[in-house]
Amino acid sequence: MDALNYRHGELFVEDVALARIAEAVGTPCYVYAKNQLSAAYRAFATALGGHGLVCYAVKANSNLAILATFAALGAGFDIVSAGELERVIAAGGDPRRVVFSGVGKTAAEIERALACDIKCFNVESPAELERLEAIAGRAGKSAPVSLRVNPDVDAGTHPYIATGLKENKFGIPLNEAAALYGDAARYPHLRFVGVDCHIGSQLTDLRPFADALDRVLPLVRQLRAQGLPVEHVDVGGGLGIRYRDERPPGVAAYVGQMRERLVAHGLADLSLLLEPGRALVAAAGTLLARVEYLKSTDTRHFAIIDAGMNDLIRPALYGAFQAIQAVRDPGDAPTLDYDVVGPVCESADVFGRGRRLHLAPGDLLVVRDAGAYGFAMSSQYNSRPRAAEVLVDGARFRVVRTRETLADLWRGESVSGAETG
Ligand code: LLP
Repeated sequence: MDALNYRHGELFVEDVALARIAEAVGTPCYVYAKNQLSAAYRAFATALGGHGLVCYAVKANSNLAILATFAALGAGFDIVSAGELERVIAAGGDPRRVVFSGVGKTAAEIERALACDIKCFNVESPAELERLEAIAGRAGKSAPVSLRVNPDVDAGTHPYIATGLKENKFGIPLNEAAALYGDAARYPHLRFVGVDCHIGSQLTDLRPFADALDRVLPLVRQLRAQGLPVEHVDVGGGLGIRYRDERPPGVAAYVGQMRERLVAHGLADLSLLLEPGRALVAAAGTLLARVEYLKSTDTRHFAIIDAGMNDLIRPALYGAFQAIQAVRDPGDAPTLDYDVVGPVCESADVFGRGRRLHLAPGDLLVVRDAGAYGFAMSSQYNSRPRAAEVLVDGARFRVVRTRETLADLWRGESVSGAETG
């Protein structure tokens, strides 16, 4: 399902012309397709059947309207901060369906998550386990725990987003995790209900997922044999999407393989937790921008647009490819190879090089597949207010985050500073 399509010579998201949104809301602006988000979620939920829970990775896109869309469909959530937890609650999500990942949980974050009775803490170090035990003890509670194990598999993805290798900061080596679980009696306020792993993001091959499970599931069997009540395995997120010519497996094949590994290891009853981020939201989001200037030098044509790397940093940070398309259907009009760039004072502020486009100053264009790690990673660099966000639902659209104002840029600042004593 593709919510972006040309009709009457211009680009629509679902049944709304992007030009209408630009006129009403201005640019740059993120546009999300609600029905595509729902369809993406349903594909995971259907493939999983009753065998587990889809915990949307909030970091990919934490807009309240997106979280509410998934919450209404019964989703769980994977969070990495107290901020994400409060967003889930504000959006009407159920904290009892929340798993809490991340290597640096503060005491205050753990206290709050414990008070909300979240589903599971994905613990990443022995020191975090000690901290959780102490806090749960003081609160008179029993905290549900998975250890995040590091299966040491090569996810074959960009080094910045590979997380399952020995040299990464994430997780606990398998043998060390086994020893910690073996010491469960030392942690009277913890319940060891699961085992967790996450090996990286934008994986386009099923093999590393299977390799990871084949390393993790023998541990689950061993723990059960020791009498630990392991109910679930959390395989993290990481399923890739097609940005250009990648051929990622479909959701059904991905989930099917996970289930198949469980059965092969004699663990058919084990509940499967998934933490997809990108695969749920990337393709449903578009960054809509306007061409400010066209400029040609001896060697290049530049299209300078009103969105910058502060709005969408993936191309600059990872050299990521995202397709760029004019809102006006080019038809057979002559094209030029443009470097599509932003206004930020950095040479890395490039959305794409040598893109074949038909453009005039003032035209609208979109950077596609921007729903994941787009707005969520945006900043105010160069004192640029963050963009508006719009949710399209069929023929209607709503602003789900207003554009920041110039005064928002210095909120909390003052010329003289506040008294600190
Ligand atoms: N679970 C954990 C523990 C994670 O660390 C992540 C992503 C996910 C789930 C979701 O992974 P996904 O399904 O989205 O691949 N900013 C980068 C991606 C960073 C991913 C970080 N962790 C990008 O724009 O490509």
